[in-house]
Amino acid sequence: MKILAIQTSCDETAAAIISKVPQENYVKLLSNIVASSLTLHSKTGGIVPEIAAREQVRYIIPVIKKAIENCKLSRRSGIPQLAGKIEEIDAIAVTVGPGLIGSLLVGVETAKTLAYLWKKPIIPVNHLLGHIYANWLTTKDQRPKTIDFPALALLVSGGHTDLVLLKNHKNTKWIGGTLDDAAGEAFDKVGRLLNLPYPGGPAIEKVSERGIAGRFTFPRPMLGSLDFYFSFSGLKAAVSREVLKLGKLDEQQIADIALAVQKSIVEVLVRKTLKAALKHNARSILLGGGVAANQTLRDRFELEIENFKLKIKLFAPSKSLCTDNAAMIGAYAGFNPKPIDWKNITANPELYF
Ligand code: KG4
Ligand code: ZN
Repeated sequence: MKILAIQTSCDETAAAIISKVPQENYVKLLSNIVASSLTLHSKTGGIVPEIAAREQVRYIIPVIKKAIENCKLSRRSGIPQLAGKIEEIDAIAVTVGPGLIGSLLVGVETAKTLAYLWKKPIIPVNHLLGHIYANWLTTKDQRPKTIDFPALALLVSGGHTDLVLLKNHKNTKWIGGTLDDAAGEAFDKVGRLLNLPYPGGPAIEKVSERGIAGRFTFPRPMLGSLDFYFSFSGLKAAVSREVLKLGKLDEQQIADIALAVQKSIVEVLVRKTLKAALKHNARSILLGGGVAANQTLRDRFELEIENFKLKIKLFAPSKSLCTDNAAMIGAYAGFNPKPIDWKNITANPELYF
């Protein structure tokens, strides 16, 4: 089954084509195009919904066209080339939420129009589950990986921090999440306090390489709580107090604070996820969302799994597939191909698990 996937929930306009064979446990990525209006938003230090939506309108058709044109199938697999052949697409998958309403509508309405014109079934996809399913994507140079269930997913994006238990592809359950700010939001807000470019996450990761450990310590919110909730707003407040106290920061102080903040966030995420994984006898941990691109987070998970000799395998998508893309939307649809009538597809900014 070949699926054209469309994702426009925020500032990225993305289209991808994936292939999924029913008996196989992975999704093959055939083409993946992402256009971003991020540089426009970095000037304002955050996403301006109206600008994001206008850019979606500008990019949506060229991005879909390019995804179809770029699509190549491995000759070794014996499947013929797909390039430009709309007839070979079996279904269209589209992100229906959560996200910014103006941005979502561009993708949803485009997908509906194409589904109607091309007479293709249309599959609505929850963006959050898409981030988790990025773990099942395989490019032609990668060996397929086997993800054993039960799997515990840590979804860490700009707006969400959630723990989701997957017993199988049909049974997913939310078991915890943030009570206030998401981890990505904490990175972004601290980035702003430190005068770093938006988005804060990658900027903090970069400057923290020059940071000296131990110069600052920030709280690890809810680290010891017995539940699977997170809270990151206090961390941002603590950084804000420190910055006010110090006055104008020099480059070394910025790097030292960045390193300490990253350490706090990573420690809370890793410890709580591992605790949840052990409680639910998870055999796999799946990372997803923009913050999952953070190398310190990945390394810390590996280290703790090794140190405690846990029988849990860690999976994380390649870094470019952690941030928003359409391939992950196709991956979810590949495992859960449940089309609905195009007339019933609507954008839902508040969609959750
Ligand atoms: O998943 P995503 O691309 O968009 C949403 O669906 O929200 O996540 C964006 C978030 C931002 O908060 C950004 O600062 C964070 O992911 N992020 C990172 C890194 N790359 C992106 N956070 C920490 N380290 C990174 N390398
Ligand atoms: Zn996202």
